Amino acid sequence: MIKKRIGILGAMPEEITGIVGLLKNKQEVVKGMRTYYVGTINNIEVVVVFSRWGKVASATTVTHLIVEFGITELFFTGVAGAINPDLNIGDIVIASSLIQHDLDARPIMDRFEIPLLGKTNLCPPKEMLDKAVESIGELLSDESLVHLLSSSQSEIFSVLNPKVVVGQIASGDQFFASHEDKGNLLAILPEVLCVEMEGAAVAQVCFEYNIPYVVIRTISDEANDNSVVNFKEFVSQVASRFGVEIIEKLLKKIAL
Ligand code: ADE
Repeated sequence: MIKKRIGILGAMPEEITGIVGLLKNKQEVVKGMRTYYVGTINNIEVVVVFSRWGKVASATTVTHLIVEFGITELFFTGVAGAINPDLNIGDIVIASSLIQHDLDARPIMDRFEIPLLGKTNLCPPKEMLDKAVESIGELLSDESLVHLLSSSQSEIFSVLNPKVVVGQIASGDQFFASHEDKGNLLAILPEVLCVEMEGAAVAQVCFEYNIPYVVIRTISDEANDNSVVNFKEFVSQVASRFGVEIIEKLLKKIAL
Protein backbone atom coordinates (compact mmCIF):
# COMPACT_ATOMS: atom_id res chain seq x y z
CA MET A 1 0.00 0.00 0.00
CA ILE A 2 1.28 3.49 -0.84
CA LYS A 3 2.13 5.50 2.26
CA LYS A 4 -0.06 8.57 2.72
CA ARG A 5 1.59 11.94 2.34
CA ILE A 6 -0.91 14.75 2.81
CA GLY A 7 -0.50 18.09 1.06
CA ILE A 8 -1.82 20.96 3.17
CA LEU A 9 -2.40 24.09 1.19
CA GLY A 10 -3.43 27.28 2.97
CA ALA A 11 -4.68 30.35 1.16
CA MET A 12 -3.38 32.56 3.98
CA PRO A 13 0.17 32.76 5.32
CA GLU A 14 -1.27 33.14 8.86
CA GLU A 15 -2.85 29.68 8.64
CA ILE A 16 0.41 28.13 7.47
CA THR A 17 2.28 29.56 10.45
CA GLY A 18 -0.14 27.85 12.83
CA ILE A 19 0.01 24.50 11.05
CA VAL A 20 3.80 24.59 10.73
CA GLY A 21 3.87 24.98 14.53
CA LEU A 22 2.38 21.46 14.79
CA LEU A 23 5.07 19.82 12.63
CA LYS A 24 7.54 17.29 14.01
CA ASN A 25 10.88 16.63 12.25
CA LYS A 26 10.37 19.81 10.24
CA GLN A 27 12.39 20.48 7.10
CA GLU A 28 12.08 23.50 4.82
CA VAL A 29 12.46 23.44 1.06
CA VAL A 30 12.45 26.77 -0.79
CA LYS A 31 11.62 26.69 -4.51
CA GLY A 32 9.94 29.11 -6.90
CA MET A 33 9.36 31.76 -4.19
CA ARG A 34 7.52 29.20 -2.05
CA THR A 35 8.59 27.55 1.21
CA TYR A 36 7.43 23.95 1.58
CA TYR A 37 7.42 22.62 5.15
CA VAL A 38 7.87 18.86 5.30
CA GLY A 39 7.32 16.86 8.49
CA THR A 40 4.79 14.83 10.44
CA ILE A 41 1.65 15.64 12.41
CA ASN A 42 0.36 12.76 14.58
CA ASN A 43 2.83 10.49 12.73
CA ILE A 44 1.26 11.33 9.36
CA GLU A 45 3.62 12.67 6.70
CA VAL A 46 2.57 16.15 5.56
CA VAL A 47 3.83 18.93 3.32
CA VAL A 48 2.50 22.37 4.22
CA VAL A 49 2.66 25.41 1.96
CA PHE A 50 1.03 28.79 1.35
CA SER A 51 -0.83 28.53 -1.99
CA ARG A 52 -0.14 32.16 -2.92
CA TRP A 53 -3.05 34.05 -4.42
CA GLY A 54 -4.86 33.63 -7.73
CA LYS A 55 -5.39 30.73 -10.11
CA VAL A 56 -1.95 30.59 -11.74
CA ALA A 57 -0.02 30.85 -8.48
CA SER A 58 -2.10 28.26 -6.63
CA ALA A 59 -2.12 25.83 -9.58
CA THR A 60 1.67 26.09 -9.72
CA THR A 61 2.02 25.43 -5.99
CA VAL A 62 -0.21 22.36 -6.02
CA THR A 63 1.51 20.98 -9.12
CA HIS A 64 4.81 21.23 -7.28
CA LEU A 65 3.30 19.46 -4.26
CA ILE A 66 2.15 16.60 -6.47
CA VAL A 67 5.14 16.24 -8.78
CA GLU A 68 8.07 17.06 -6.48
CA PHE A 69 6.74 15.95 -3.09
CA GLY A 70 4.54 13.05 -4.18
CA ILE A 71 1.51 13.97 -2.07
CA THR A 72 -1.25 11.36 -2.13
CA GLU A 73 -4.13 13.71 -1.18
CA LEU A 74 -4.72 17.40 -0.59
CA PHE A 75 -6.52 19.54 1.99
CA PHE A 76 -7.05 23.17 0.99
CA THR A 77 -8.33 25.77 3.47
CA GLY A 78 -8.76 29.53 3.33
CA VAL A 79 -11.34 32.31 3.32
CA ALA A 80 -14.05 33.30 0.85
CA GLY A 81 -16.58 36.05 0.18
CA ALA A 82 -20.23 35.08 0.64
CA ILE A 83 -22.42 35.17 -2.45
CA ASN A 84 -25.42 33.28 -1.08
CA PRO A 85 -27.38 35.66 1.20
CA ASP A 86 -27.95 32.96 3.85
CA LEU A 87 -24.23 32.80 4.63
CA ASN A 88 -22.77 34.79 7.53
CA ILE A 89 -19.22 35.76 8.41
CA GLY A 90 -17.58 32.77 10.14
CA ASP A 91 -19.70 30.12 8.38
CA ILE A 92 -17.78 27.27 6.78
CA VAL A 93 -18.32 26.23 3.16
CA ILE A 94 -17.16 22.83 1.90
CA ALA A 95 -17.02 22.57 -1.89
CA SER A 96 -19.07 19.78 -3.45
CA SER A 97 -18.26 21.41 -6.80
CA LEU A 98 -15.88 24.10 -8.02
CA ILE A 99 -16.16 26.31 -11.09
CA GLN A 100 -13.91 28.95 -12.67
CA HIS A 101 -16.27 31.90 -13.00
CA ASP A 102 -13.90 33.84 -15.28
CA LEU A 103 -13.33 31.01 -17.78
CA ASP A 104 -15.11 31.78 -21.03
CA ALA A 105 -13.97 30.31 -24.37
CA ARG A 106 -17.29 30.88 -26.15
CA PRO A 107 -18.17 30.35 -28.93
CA ILE A 108 -15.68 27.49 -29.19
CA MET A 109 -16.89 25.92 -25.93
CA ASP A 110 -19.65 26.36 -23.38
CA ARG A 111 -19.25 29.15 -20.89
CA PHE A 112 -17.08 27.99 -17.90
CA GLU A 113 -16.00 24.81 -19.76
CA ILE A 114 -12.44 23.79 -18.94
CA PRO A 115 -10.60 23.30 -22.26
CA LEU A 116 -9.88 19.65 -23.08
CA LEU A 117 -11.66 18.34 -19.99
CA GLY A 118 -15.17 18.97 -21.31
CA LYS A 119 -16.37 19.86 -17.80
CA THR A 120 -17.49 23.08 -16.17
CA ASN A 121 -17.60 21.89 -12.55
CA LEU A 122 -15.12 19.66 -10.73
CA CYS A 123 -16.32 17.60 -7.77
CA PRO A 124 -14.07 16.34 -4.97
CA PRO A 125 -14.28 12.60 -4.30
CA LYS A 126 -17.29 11.67 -2.16
CA GLU A 127 -15.21 9.96 0.53
CA MET A 128 -13.12 13.10 1.15
CA LEU A 129 -16.22 15.27 1.09
CA ASP A 130 -18.13 13.07 3.56
CA LYS A 131 -15.25 13.02 6.00
CA ALA A 132 -14.82 16.79 5.74
CA VAL A 133 -18.54 17.32 6.39
CA GLU A 134 -18.34 14.99 9.40
CA SER A 135 -15.22 16.75 10.73
CA ILE A 136 -16.59 20.28 10.44
CA GLY A 137 -19.95 19.13 11.83
CA GLU A 138 -18.17 17.85 14.94
CA LEU A 139 -16.11 21.04 15.31
CA LEU A 140 -19.30 23.09 15.19
CA SER A 141 -21.43 20.90 17.42
CA ASP A 142 -18.83 20.74 20.21
CA GLU A 143 -18.19 24.48 19.69
CA SER A 144 -14.43 24.00 19.33
CA LEU A 145 -14.27 26.72 16.70
CA VAL A 146 -16.15 29.46 18.58
CA HIS A 147 -14.19 28.62 21.73
CA LEU A 148 -11.02 29.68 19.92
CA LEU A 149 -12.29 33.26 20.02
CA SER A 150 -12.65 35.65 22.92
CA SER A 151 -16.17 36.98 23.51
CA SER A 152 -15.13 40.37 22.16
CA GLN A 153 -13.73 38.77 18.97
CA SER A 154 -16.98 36.84 18.48
CA GLU A 155 -18.91 40.05 18.90
CA ILE A 156 -16.70 42.30 16.75
CA PHE A 157 -16.78 39.84 13.86
CA SER A 158 -20.36 38.67 14.57
CA VAL A 159 -19.20 35.04 14.70
CA LEU A 160 -21.73 33.66 17.16
CA ASN A 161 -23.15 30.46 15.83
CA PRO A 162 -21.33 29.41 12.64
CA LYS A 163 -22.85 26.75 10.39
CA VAL A 164 -21.45 24.45 7.70
CA VAL A 165 -22.84 24.51 4.18
CA VAL A 166 -21.92 22.22 1.30
CA GLY A 167 -22.22 23.36 -2.31
CA GLN A 168 -20.66 25.18 -5.24
CA ILE A 169 -17.61 27.45 -4.86
CA ALA A 170 -16.59 29.79 -7.70
CA SER A 171 -12.98 30.82 -8.23
CA GLY A 172 -11.42 33.47 -10.45
CA ASP A 173 -8.76 36.14 -10.59
CA GLN A 174 -10.95 38.80 -9.02
CA PHE A 175 -11.57 40.09 -5.50
CA PHE A 176 -15.30 40.81 -5.19
CA ALA A 177 -15.82 44.14 -3.47
CA SER A 178 -19.03 45.61 -4.90
CA HIS A 179 -22.73 44.82 -4.88
CA GLU A 180 -22.68 45.15 -8.65
CA ASP A 181 -20.02 42.48 -9.23
CA LYS A 182 -21.76 40.19 -6.78
CA GLY A 183 -25.09 40.66 -8.56
CA ASN A 184 -23.47 39.99 -11.93
CA LEU A 185 -22.00 36.71 -10.65
CA LEU A 186 -25.31 35.57 -9.17
CA ALA A 187 -27.01 36.30 -12.48
CA ILE A 188 -24.70 33.90 -14.36
CA LEU A 189 -24.14 31.34 -11.57
CA PRO A 190 -27.18 31.35 -9.25
CA GLU A 191 -26.09 28.27 -7.26
CA VAL A 192 -22.75 29.70 -6.12
CA LEU A 193 -22.31 29.88 -2.34
CA CYS A 194 -19.08 31.87 -2.18
CA VAL A 195 -16.13 33.20 -4.16
CA GLU A 196 -12.40 32.95 -3.77
CA MET A 197 -9.39 33.03 -6.09
CA GLU A 198 -7.81 29.55 -6.08
CA GLY A 199 -10.02 26.54 -5.31
CA ALA A 200 -11.24 25.61 -8.78
CA ALA A 201 -7.74 25.94 -10.26
CA VAL A 202 -6.31 23.65 -7.58
CA ALA A 203 -9.21 21.23 -8.16
CA GLN A 204 -8.36 21.12 -11.87
CA VAL A 205 -4.75 20.15 -11.19
CA CYS A 206 -5.81 17.51 -8.62
CA PHE A 207 -8.35 16.10 -11.08
CA GLU A 208 -5.76 15.90 -13.86
CA TYR A 209 -3.24 14.13 -11.59
CA ASN A 210 -5.89 11.97 -9.91
CA ILE A 211 -5.20 13.31 -6.42
CA PRO A 212 -8.17 13.26 -4.00
CA TYR A 213 -8.80 16.72 -2.55
CA VAL A 214 -11.14 18.76 -0.43
CA VAL A 215 -11.62 22.56 -0.39
CA ILE A 216 -12.90 24.23 2.78
CA ARG A 217 -13.44 27.98 3.16
CA THR A 218 -14.38 30.21 6.08
CA ILE A 219 -16.59 33.16 5.10
CA SER A 220 -14.59 36.34 5.76
CA ASP A 221 -16.77 38.96 4.03
CA GLU A 222 -19.92 39.41 2.01
CA ALA A 223 -18.21 40.03 -1.34
CA ASN A 224 -19.71 43.53 -1.50
CA ASP A 225 -18.77 47.16 -0.83
CA ASN A 226 -17.89 46.27 2.80
CA SER A 227 -15.55 43.42 1.86
CA VAL A 228 -12.31 45.15 2.61
CA VAL A 229 -13.45 46.35 6.04
CA ASN A 230 -12.09 44.00 8.71
CA PHE A 231 -10.86 41.50 6.10
CA LYS A 232 -7.24 41.49 7.30
CA GLU A 233 -8.26 41.49 10.96
CA PHE A 234 -10.69 38.65 10.35
CA VAL A 235 -8.00 36.60 8.63
CA SER A 236 -5.41 37.10 11.35
CA GLN A 237 -7.71 36.78 14.36
CA VAL A 238 -10.40 34.32 13.26
CA ALA A 239 -9.87 32.45 10.00
CA SER A 240 -6.25 31.51 10.67
CA ARG A 241 -7.27 29.84 13.97
CA PHE A 242 -10.22 28.10 12.34
CA GLY A 243 -7.88 26.87 9.59
CA VAL A 244 -5.46 25.22 12.03
CA GLU A 245 -8.29 23.55 13.98
CA ILE A 246 -9.91 22.32 10.76
CA ILE A 247 -6.65 20.82 9.49
CA GLU A 248 -5.97 19.05 12.80
CA LYS A 249 -9.46 17.57 12.79
CA LEU A 250 -9.22 16.49 9.13
CA LEU A 251 -5.89 14.81 9.76
CA LYS A 252 -7.41 12.83 12.61
CA LYS A 253 -10.42 11.80 10.56
CA ILE A 254 -9.24 11.45 6.96
CA ALA A 255 -5.80 10.09 7.52
CA LEU A 256 -6.93 7.11 9.60
N1 ADE B 1 -11.61 35.70 -0.65
C1 ADE B 1 -12.17 36.22 0.46
N2 ADE B 1 -13.05 37.18 0.17
C2 ADE B 1 -13.08 37.28 -1.18
C3 ADE B 1 -13.78 38.11 -2.09
N3 ADE B 1 -14.63 39.03 -1.65
N4 ADE B 1 -13.54 37.95 -3.42
C4 ADE B 1 -12.64 37.00 -3.85
N5 ADE B 1 -11.94 36.22 -3.03
C5 ADE B 1 -12.16 36.34 -1.71
